[in-house]
Amino acid sequence: MRVICVCWLLSLWMNVEAQTLSARGLDAILQDYAYRAFVRPRTGVEYNGVPPLNLSGIQISAMRLRSGSLFTRGVNKFNEFVIPVGVIEEPYVERLVLVYQNLGNWSNEYYPLSGYVYLAPVLGLLAYNAFDLSAKDLPVLEIRASKEPILIEFTQLNKVPDDATSVPKCVSFDLNGVMNLTNVTSGNKCMTYAQGHFSIVVESNGTSPVLVPPPPPQRSHGGKGNGSRGGIIVGSVAGGIALLVLLALLILWVWRFNKRKKMHKMEKAADAGEALHMTTVGNTKAPAATTTRTQPTLETEYIP
Ligand SMILES: *[C@@H]1O[C@H](CO)[C@@H](O)[C@H](O)[C@H]1NC(C)=O
Ligand SMILES: *[C@@H]1O[C@H](CO)[C@@H](O)[C@H](O)[C@H]1NC(C)=O
Ligand SMILES: *[C@@H]1O[C@H](CO)[C@@H](O)[C@H](O)[C@H]1NC(C)=O
Ligand SMILES: *[C@@H]1O[C@H](CO)[C@@H](O)[C@H](O)[C@H]1NC(C)=O
Ligand SMILES: *[C@@H]1O[C@H](CO)[C@@H](O)[C@H](O)[C@H]1NC(C)=O
Repeated sequence: MRVICVCWLLSLWMNVEAQTLSARGLDAILQDYAYRAFVRPRTGVEYNGVPPLNLSGIQISAMRLRSGSLFTRGVNKFNEFVIPVGVIEEPYVERLVLVYQNLGNWSNEYYPLSGYVYLAPVLGLLAYNAFDLSAKDLPVLEIRASKEPILIEFTQLNKVPDDATSVPKCVSFDLNGVMNLTNVTSGNKCMTYAQGHFSIVVESNGTSPVLVPPPPPQRSHGGKGNGSRGGIIVGSVAGGIALLVLLALLILWVWRFNKRKKMHKMEKAADAGEALHMTTVGNTKAPAATTTRTQPTLETEYIP
């Protein structure tokens, strides 16, 4: 019974962890499918990838670059992204691949934001090592704009909903799902100094979603601005509690086991007649040992 309980808790904890990882899992799948677009790729040319059928609605593309060329020349236009000179990657690689993601109607699925409405799809810009173009599960390279920021020019913004309670804001999510809001410039531009996922949002009670034609999942739970980060925190807290309970159960089990072992030993000792030694303390102790098989006898009675 106890084992079943522990397994259930463990699976619960693992489920929670898996949920918070889904945006990273999506990145991994899209990296794989974007790389598949490369068939004898030329450097500095953008190739459009085809995402798996179960993710249709998402656009991906990839561009292979020499690290040195990225630093000295940037990329004039990579869909909505304008990459200036001075971008460096960490750790250093000789050639890298920039993967572009447009999550389209999947934006709310992978980057749910309660209290906000997306005015544009979530766009991703991630860099990977280009050493092996058939590689999967590659780690994301950190890219950093060391001079000018990377510019994101959103093409078509949705209409601001009537119940909006703020001006449009740029939203960015780093790879840990931590969100940051900054000002929109020139009506439709956002800036970033690093890789991540980006969009434009307005604060809203969320009664009239505009971005996604099919009805999005409920976004009424939780407070404002606790999207993926909230998910991670809830996940960690739930995981922590589950672990604590697990630990407590384990301690209880060990304690009970020890107690039982001790009692077992005492019983055994009693059976073996060792309990007799206790009866030597005095006359008053003698009845305590009457339950043992060999009846206790006081030493004094042996004296002839
Ligand atoms: C979609 O399909 C791919 C490959 O067929 C699979 O690896 C992935 O887990 C699926 N993703 C979702 C979100 O269903
Ligand atoms: C997005 O749209 C595609 C069709 O273009 C559809 O197959 C897919 O299920 C939609 N995704 C979501 C999350 O609604
Ligand atoms: C949010 O972005 C601004 C501007 O790039 C930066 O100064 C700030 O440190 C960021 N905040 C967090 C929590 O990352
Ligand atoms: C963002 O915009 C607000 C209001 O327009 C302004 O007060 C604030 O200084 C701006 N912040 C930055 C970092 O430019
Ligand atoms: C939306 O939220 C604001 C403040 O948070 C509140 O005053 C208003 O009544 C809400 N509107 C709806 C339709 O729930």
